[in-house]
Amino acid sequence: MTILLELDGVAKSFGAVRSLVDVTFAIEDRGIVGLIGPNGAGKSTLINVLTGVYPPSAGAVRFAGRSLAGLSTAERARTGLVRTFQRPHPILDLTCIEGVMVGGLCRGLSVAEARREARDKLELLGLAEVAELSPRKLPTGHLKLLDFLRVLMLHPRLVLLDELMAGLSLTELEVVQGAIEHLARNGVTFLVVEHLMDVIRRLSRHLVVMDAGQIVTEGEPAAVIRDPRVVEAYLGAEGESTAVTEVFHA
Ligand SMILES: Nc1ncnc2c1ncn2[C@@H]1O[C@H](COP(=O)(O)OP(=O)(O)OP(=O)(O)O)[C@@H](O)[C@H]1O
Ligand SMILES: [Mg+2]
Repeated sequence: MTILLELDGVAKSFGAVRSLVDVTFAIEDRGIVGLIGPNGAGKSTLINVLTGVYPPSAGAVRFAGRSLAGLSTAERARTGLVRTFQRPHPILDLTCIEGVMVGGLCRGLSVAEARREARDKLELLGLAEVAELSPRKLPTGHLKLLDFLRVLMLHPRLVLLDELMAGLSLTELEVVQGAIEHLARNGVTFLVVEHLMDVIRRLSRHLVVMDAGQIVTEGEPAAVIRDPRVVEAYLGAEGESTAVTEVFHA
């Protein structure tokens, strides 16, 4: 397996707040890696640093063998590194299908080609019926899925998903997880940030745990979830087994 993304000693501070401290790990090409950690652990900050929203305070990131230093978010997207947001970013003045098409137009497709591909993608996630609606009318879950489809239109190599699945219905969860697994089989790599442990258990081939800006542990998901350091990160101390069960089934 080759390494697609490599983080070496990445740090990010906002004044006195140390949101990321010496984060070092790698993501292999063609895999689904889970990233979990309690609220405020630094997961979204990590995604923001990887996509060039914030420059790191220290450390280096390499993607597909190339340093990302100095590249803008758009330049990173063009090299195949994209993300979705914890809170959706709809393009309010376009219809849903037009908002998805934007990804294809950025890739150089014609309007007709982008519309065809966007329609296929909407169908893939069961969203064909909202194609011509305004996103203003839609619930948050749908808006997040539209963001996801827009970045898929860029034909990315690595997709960073920041709690894409929070707030989706059980049917939507099933469809989205199936789509992610299908894309992963076809060469797309995912970093999946989620609090939903059933999703993490099903999708992750490798699991990374963060707390207070640092990597606590990483490895095979079932073993990582049982690790006492992970339990402590979530509960603040070695909790009773009933409490742990509740956390991991929340
Ligand atoms: N722009 C910013 N300015 C100041 N502090 C920030 C900023 N962005 C993040 N932080 C701080 O960095 C820490 C990590 O936040 P982050 O949003 O990365 O956590 P998270 O793991 O994504 O949490 P959640 O699970 O709640 O989404 C928090 O203490 C947060 O307040
Ligand atoms: Mg977050």
